[in-house]
Amino acid sequence: MAAALGLAACGAHPKAITPEQSAALAPADARLSGLYETSCKTCHTIAGSGAPLTGDARAWEPRMKQGMATLVAHTVQGFKAMPAGGQCAACTAADYEALIVFMSKEP
Ligand code: HEC
Repeated sequence: MAAALGLAACGAHPKAITPEQSAALAPADARLSGLYETSCKTCHTIAGSGAPLTGDARAWEPRMKQGMATLVAHTVQGFKAMPAGGQCAACTAADYEALIVFMSKEP
């Protein structure tokens, strides 16, 4: 956790993002946005949750290197502190992929 905060504070490109900025972001698609609000957002905008913040492209970069198939599989199966399915019972594999793309992008 301290390591993640240290990285976020560093300030090089891509830009660091505050939890407030992260929480203000939402997927453009209405259905996806609805899914996001009640699942991913509850952890992925909270500093100290251990989850890479939405919009924190730098925190996502090493995770994205694993490839989308692995990231979706980790979300479906659960990964360390993240529960299986990321608390989204209604999400399809395509939804997870779209949500991961949204969260990992620099806003
Ligand atoms: C209960 C909290 C919680 C929720 C809800 C949650 N996540 Fe996570 N997520 C985490 C944490 C914590 C990590 C970091 C795990 C680690 O690496 O220690 C994480 C990591 C990830 C990763 C990176 C996995 C990897 O291989 O590095 C992806 C992808 C991800 N989450 C997607 C999602 C998606 C999509 C949703 C919504 C459908 C979601 N998460 C909802 C807590 C959550």
